[in-house]
Amino acid sequence: MTASRALHARSLADPEGFWAEQARRIDWETPFEQVLDDSRAPFTRWFVGGRTNLCHNAVDRHLAERAGQTALIHVSTETGERRRYTYAELHDEVNRMAAILQAFGVAKGDRVLIYLPMIPEAAFAMLACARIGAIHSVVFGGFASVSLAARIDDAQPRVVISADAGSRAGKVVPYKPLLDEALRLASHQPERVLLVDRGLAAMARTPGRDEDYAAWRGHVGAARVPCAWLESSEPSYVLYTSGTTGKPKGVQRDTGGYAVALATSMEYIFCGKPGDTMFTCSDIGWVVGHSYIIYAPLLAGLATLMYEGTPVRPDGGILWQLVQEYKVNLMFTAPTAIRVLKKQDPAWLKRYDLSSLRLLFLAGEPLDEPTADWIQQGIGKPVVDNYWQTETGWPIIAIQRGIEPLPAKLGSPGVPAYGYDLKIVDESTGEVCAPGQKGVVAIDGPLPPGCMSTIWGDDERFVKTYWSSVPNRRCYSTFDWGVQDEDGYVFILGRTDDVINVAGHRLGTREIEESLSSHAGVAEVAVVGVQDALKGQVALGVCVARDPARVADAPGRQAFETELMKTVEQQLGAVAKPARVVFVNVLPKTRSGKLLRRAIQAVAEGRATGDLTTIEDPVALEMLQDALKA
Ligand code: PRX
Repeated sequence: MTASRALHARSLADPEGFWAEQARRIDWETPFEQVLDDSRAPFTRWFVGGRTNLCHNAVDRHLAERAGQTALIHVSTETGERRRYTYAELHDEVNRMAAILQAFGVAKGDRVLIYLPMIPEAAFAMLACARIGAIHSVVFGGFASVSLAARIDDAQPRVVISADAGSRAGKVVPYKPLLDEALRLASHQPERVLLVDRGLAAMARTPGRDEDYAAWRGHVGAARVPCAWLESSEPSYVLYTSGTTGKPKGVQRDTGGYAVALATSMEYIFCGKPGDTMFTCSDIGWVVGHSYIIYAPLLAGLATLMYEGTPVRPDGGILWQLVQEYKVNLMFTAPTAIRVLKKQDPAWLKRYDLSSLRLLFLAGEPLDEPTADWIQQGIGKPVVDNYWQTETGWPIIAIQRGIEPLPAKLGSPGVPAYGYDLKIVDESTGEVCAPGQKGVVAIDGPLPPGCMSTIWGDDERFVKTYWSSVPNRRCYSTFDWGVQDEDGYVFILGRTDDVINVAGHRLGTREIEESLSSHAGVAEVAVVGVQDALKGQVALGVCVARDPARVADAPGRQAFETELMKTVEQQLGAVAKPARVVFVNVLPKTRSGKLLRRAIQAVAEGRATGDLTTIEDPVALEMLQDALKA
């Protein structure tokens, strides 16, 4: 038996023993009385009765040994700023931010919504919330007002922290107007809005509500705020993610389980040691940013590099230049970033000294073989694919190089990680599939520490969505198809639901459909994901116009397409904008009126549509084909 398999087997045979051992990686103010309580499954509790704090473990705990060591490096190729904070300086800034939040009345359990670009203040804000036991909800800066409003109404934050603007590829993206519009749309109103003014865009301020960060930072001075000790299962944050309905799900994370899980993953999966530098090129608005830009590297005593910019500006060598300059040891990004680099001169891969770099981790979407080969050969470092979800917070499947460097198999992220009782199950019987047989990637409970505790404010939806979708089996569904080979390697074969993955960004087609439908000129709409060489998938909108005359000729269709794309961009943000919108007279549906998304997708990708005996009107697909050709 291999070492990974042995550790995996042990973690499942004796979860209490295994995780109690891992729990020593962090400080507990009060020791836990029980490792695991699954009596109310699937509402699993880890480290029951233990009291701890994420900020203490990520920052304060290191002061004795590494106060002068770099904790946070910030580089923006958008504004030209570069900043560096030692653990002691990070501690100061987090205390200041915590003091400001307290001055606004924020207390344990209150929500704070963070809508910020990739600036150090975002890290301060997250850690400050953790420090005082407030629950942060970071909303990705690429989301616009309608998405933001939905999250504000669901999380009901007491305070929102935002900025004048972000910047993307040299273009200033003002955040404040988007926030103001979101607050106009939302029924819930925060008491205060704390604004970081980067001097990028003018900001309108609402007196009595909008507060200036720099002024408050000066005002609170060298404040010290004690850590609030939370019971292990008390929530640390809520992070929204897309599902099958238009309403985003607030993934709720615990405190103690998350700290232990991340600290463990830093050794077994990410091979990070105190003093190393980790560069996770992602965004704090996504789970990869929460776990591997902020919490995990700091929990493990590393320096984390936070980057605002794209992989190709000022040139295609920027990521590698950063590796050289900051002696980066571990890098983590999405396959899309590498596919973008593939279009650049390969000489960029050889220009800088990459000797500090040990491993490149890739996750968030399928890693195609040519991309994996290209980068592995180009930089001469092992590439480590890993598979997981917002819901789990850390890898479900990976080659766990901190345990042993099992050989990678192209097209597979590896083998199930310790703690996950992963099963490929038949979607209609719930039985475990034989090796080589395709099924749903499921996890038999309990989920290991660090995974979602529930959907924020909706326990019933948590059970219904995640734990009731496979017949005859009480298991967690990932909503991904997969297949496992004789050696235990898992291959991921795409989503079982209507979630699409655009450049590593998880989007719900239903949300995009709702946005398109909000346009008065649209009668009906379907959105599907279509394969794309660069972004993995892109969204395609198929619309029925209320007034057929409007789309009768090419100029009319083009104008309407542009208008609809703008609608989505304004409401949801540029990330959700469909790559194309085409018009048909009727959507392909079953006789019972269900949209035939898979058939639409097949036609758009030029594949066979499969069995269509239930289709209401076969002409609908021909019409779609014509529309796509036009
Ligand atoms: O479909 C899987 C895909 O991304 C989904 C999760 O996306 P998100 O919640 O944004 O979390 C990303 C965390 C890395 C999964 O359900 N996915 C993620 N990683 C991989 C992947 N598909 C194939 N290979 C991967 N390595």
